[in-house]
Amino acid sequence: MSAGGWLLPQAATIARPIDTLFFTMVGLCALVALAVMGAIVFYGIRYRRGSGADRSGAHSQSLPVELTWILVPFAIFVAVFLWSLALFARARTPPPDAQTVYVIAKQWMWKIEHPGGQREINALHVPLGEAVRLTMTSQDVIHSFYVPAFRIKQDVLPGRYTQLWFEATRLGSFPLQCAEYCGLDHARMGGRVVVLRPADYQVWLSGHAAAGSLASRGAELFRSRGCSGCHASGAAIRAPPLAGLYGRPVPLADGRTVIADERYLRDSILLPGVAVVAGYRPLMPSFSGQLSEEDVLALIAYIKSLPDTDHGGTSP
Ligand code: CUA
Repeated sequence: MSAGGWLLPQAATIARPIDTLFFTMVGLCALVALAVMGAIVFYGIRYRRGSGADRSGAHSQSLPVELTWILVPFAIFVAVFLWSLALFARARTPPPDAQTVYVIAKQWMWKIEHPGGQREINALHVPLGEAVRLTMTSQDVIHSFYVPAFRIKQDVLPGRYTQLWFEATRLGSFPLQCAEYCGLDHARMGGRVVVLRPADYQVWLSGHAAAGSLASRGAELFRSRGCSGCHASGAAIRAPPLAGLYGRPVPLADGRTVIADERYLRDSILLPGVAVVAGYRPLMPSFSGQLSEEDVLALIAYIKSLPDTDHGGTSP
């Protein structure tokens, strides 16, 4: 399905496959609707009052005919389901080399934080042809991050991270819109996604350089909020080491093993009692209500940036 002038532009890799699925389903539904409407009109005219049609009403039953109208639609439904399942998995699984950008929603704006420390509001600058992963959270109510030209949409929830990814295939500026009613100015909670050539994107990044990267802001918080009192190497209190932690499996005291992703790190900072690391006592205080979402993201960026030094290659 190619985009005509009246259609949304297809500006990301997932857009065309989504459109193909969508218009196939519209086509199938249209066929069924037309067949049913056609039959209604045809029989309505043929058996109208006063017509000379044969109404003797011969009854007949046919197992093959019944099986056909049960099994053929069933096969079509299953085929469409498997097709959309494969597409859903593709749309929800960011490639491992995707670059992460953080999104914080609030009434009524989108705050974007790039790993290099660049911040923007109601605008997201991204490079053409490179996978971008968004890690998103909300400061207040449920919002939804929607870029129609990319065919991506994901709810943004307070108290947890959701993610989204895309790879832009067209240069230009594309509307971004909140797609979940979130209060008075919901309809105006929008912005632009600006797709730049990779070289121009680098120019943009350096032109909007902040005082420090997200990770360096996190390092500052790590000291000023007292995290380093327990988690720094050589601290008096024994706390789980954080170097090289990101992405690794973590055995928990209750026997479970979890992967130390952004969600886990966030929960460990705000709700440390929920997932206590095996071999440690639940001493960590909760930082819930004391850190802004920006602070938590900065701390996570800092933890992600810590090189795996103190394990000497013994990591699992
Ligand atoms: Cu935010 Cu609607």
